[in-house]
Order: sequence, then C-alpha cells, then structure tokens
Amino acid sequence: MNSLYREYQRRVDQVPVQGVGLSVDVYSPDLVSLLDSLRCRQVIPAYLEVFQAASTALAAVRSRTEIPLTYHGEGLWVIQPGAERDRLFLHEACAVAGQLEILQSAWSNHECATKYIAGYSFGTYLPPLYTEASAAVVARNIRAVQAIFDRDCRLPGGQSPLFLLELPPLTYFVAGTLSIPEFFRLVTEQAACGLVLDIGHLWTVYRYTRAWQSLSLAAFLDRFLAEFPLERVVEIHVAGLSVHESMIASPVRSLAEQGQGLPLWTDAHAAPIPPVLFEMLDRILTDSRLMHLKGLALEVDTKPIELIVDEFQLFASRYGAVFPIKVQTRVCADVSRQEREEHVVDVRPEAEVEEDGVRRAYEAYARVVSGQAAPAGPEWISPAACSDGLIWYQSSYLPYEIVQWGGEIEAMFPGTCRELAARAVSLKTFVPFWFREPRPVTMSYDFFEIKIDRFLEFVREAAPDVQAMAQREANELREAYRLANEAPVSVESHQP
Ligand SMILES: [Fe+2]
Repeated sequence: MNSLYREYQRRVDQVPVQGVGLSVDVYSPDLVSLLDSLRCRQVIPAYLEVFQAASTALAAVRSRTEIPLTYHGEGLWVIQPGAERDRLFLHEACAVAGQLEILQSAWSNHECATKYIAGYSFGTYLPPLYTEASAAVVARNIRAVQAIFDRDCRLPGGQSPLFLLELPPLTYFVAGTLSIPEFFRLVTEQAACGLVLDIGHLWTVYRYTRAWQSLSLAAFLDRFLAEFPLERVVEIHVAGLSVHESMIASPVRSLAEQGQGLPLWTDAHAAPIPPVLFEMLDRILTDSRLMHLKGLALEVDTKPIELIVDEFQLFASRYGAVFPIKVQTRVCADVSRQEREEHVVDVRPEAEVEEDGVRRAYEAYARVVSGQAAPAGPEWISPAACSDGLIWYQSSYLPYEIVQWGGEIEAMFPGTCRELAARAVSLKTFVPFWFREPRPVTMSYDFFEIKIDRFLEFVREAAPDVQAMAQREANELREAYRLANEAPVSVESHQP
C-alpha cells in the first residue's frame, strides 16, 4: 500500500457512515417546510448535505436539528492554476473550514469545475480541461485545501473533514486529452481525497462524450467504472435531468435528438429524476470496489417539496438496505482491496506542475467556450469532443445564462431596458460585451453581483445618458439582495 493511499484510508475510515439522505439548500426550497413534510410522511433522511449559505443560516440549522449534516461547498475553484498561492482562494478555503466547523461536517464536497476562469465569469459549472497537467493542478490545490482543513477544523473525534471532489456535469461539450475516469485516477494518485460520483452527471458524460454512438449504456458503464477510482467514492448523488430552458424552443434540439432516442438533457436539480439513473445506480452498487461509500443522497435543491418527498420515499425504500449490505460485503471488499492495492501506483512525486502551460490552456479554453476563438489544439480533437455541442452551448445556453439565468436583466433593470430599447440597443449585444475581455474577480464569487457590475459597464458604454437610471436600479437591487441574504433562518418549528 503506498503512503498516499494509506493516508486516504486513514482519513476515510474516520468518516462515519451517513446512510441515505438528501442534499439540500437552506432556502430553496425552505428547509423547515421540507423537513416538516418529510416528517409528516415519516421519511426522515439519515443525513442532510447542506449547500453553502451564510454562516448564520448554517448555524441555525445545526442548532435546531439532530440530523447529521455534511457540506456541499461552492466557490472554491480547485481547477484554477496557481490557486494554492492565491490570497482569495486561501481566504475561501479558510471560510469553508469555518462552515465545516459550524456544521460539524465529516466532509466537504466540491465540484471539479469552475464558474470563473482566466478572468471570464460564467453562471454555471464549466468542467475542467481533462489533461494530465490540469489533473496535477487540481491535486495540488486539493492538498492545499486539505491542509487548511487539518489546521482549522477539528471534529469531535479529533479528525478533520475529508475533501471530496465531485464528477462535474457536461453541458453539451467536453475538452481534453484524457478520458474522464483517467483524469480522476490521476488526481487521486496525487491527492488523498475522496470522490463524489453523481449519477446524473455520469449520464451527461455518456451523452456528450459521444459514448452513446458506439456503446450501450451498460457497456459504457462497465468501461467507465473499470477506469474510474471507485475505491475513492465516498458519496453518490442522484439528481434530476431535463432539457434546458434555452434549448426547449431551439431548432437545434429536434436536429440533435433526431433518430438517437437520447434526449438533450443537462443537470437540473429541480426536475424529476429519470428512472434510467436508478438503473445506473443499481449497476454501480454491485461493484466490490465501492468499499468506502458513506452516503447516498438525492440532490434536491430548487425542487418542489411534494416532488422531493415522493422521490425520497421511493429512494429510501429502494436503497435503505445499501449500508447494512455494504458492511456485510466488507470482507469481500477487503479481499478485492488487497488485490487492488497491488496495482495502485506509487505516489507521484510533488509535481513539477506546468502551471504556465495550464494557465495558457485555460485562457484559450475560456475564449473558445465563450465563442471568441475557434476550437483548436489537442484538447478539442479527441474523439470524444462534441463540436456540435460546443455550438449549442455558445449559441443558446451561454447567452441565456448571461441575459436570463440567475437574474433576468429585463426584470432587474426594467426602466433601463425600456430606455435601451428606445435607443435600439439590443440586449443580445450584452453577451459579446461580457466576454470581450477578461475582468478579474477580486471578491467571493457572486454571479448576481457580477451581473449588476457588468450591466452598469455595458450601459455606460452603449447608452451613457441612461447611466443614472441604471445606477439607481442597481442600488435598489443590491439593497434588496443584501436584505435577502441577511434574512434570519427560522428553524424553530423543526423537531426531527
Ligand atoms: Fe451532485
């Protein structure tokens, strides 16, 4: 057994089994109402994974429930080259450690993705470049974050929370020179982290790496699982999938779906969970290398409460026996682990991370996905690269994200938009303005705040005489946003 695997083994052995639970948001839907509804139906989750929120809100949840809580982080972009020396990144990591302490969370889950890269801001996750050098960057950043957890956060048993890295979703395209499971294998050979396997995200890998063109879903799963470091999987997520709003009326949708029988789904936590994901989960749960699974959760933030309760009731009855079964099969798993350890490679040396090269690659990546540069280079010519998907992303998904998602510009700035329309300034031109040049973010990432800032800059350039009105509307928005974020969380009524 190599020392890195031993370190992982030591850490993961200290993570208690959480069982079958829910991954939730404090506010959306309202956590108190959700727990009340679950209690009425007598289906109490064994644990709650709580999405990042204001520390006061997390503290309120912790103080009012006995249900074990784990943490779903946000804004700690571990794919960023040089992050482990970046003041803002280190500040975010310390803030995460503080929130882990509040929740007494056994782990900290972070997407292997980013919403901000090379000075360009996005509303939803961009997956990493799947290359050897970027895997080394991710591993280095994880080691830095885990060291901060070790220093700043102690759980009652004396251990610190374990860093978990989640397989991110694909939104129509992928770029890189490695297969996705190979990338995660490389990361885990350089960092003693655990992983979160999200089954919906895995379906998007099948869909948007074009694996569906040559493999059945079962054959794809077999191939993926054979390469993927399943022994590092600590949690499994299952969440909804649906056709994105921007694609519903798009002409590319019918073309893309024609004759394939595969819908154009992307990750959508508010949507119902399609049965195919449970078929995939059933297959994955039979793999003996899944020896460190501690939690199995439906990810239900933004979903209607009634739908959550219905889905969780079925989920808990279908998978409630997983964890006792896991314990019973542990002996078998240990045998297979010994076999496996013989094949685990030695720890890779402290990387000579090609940081400048990765940084340049991500600058090019951001320019390509935002439509400013043509896809070129080895990252874009792999057989898996879905060039059609990149066009769908650039032409429909991304403009929707900038103009409508996470704050609809016309609703945020109604007076300003009327004045812009009167001057024949189209909101479509806001999208190329947004991506025209890199604009570094110097504070904790907040897409809504960034949207306000960018729109003010846009109005200043496109219609300077409307600037005062835009500023007034921006002030009102910021004040309302501040009040909403500071609103107390009332969990008094909840008696788990
Ligand atoms: Fe997830």
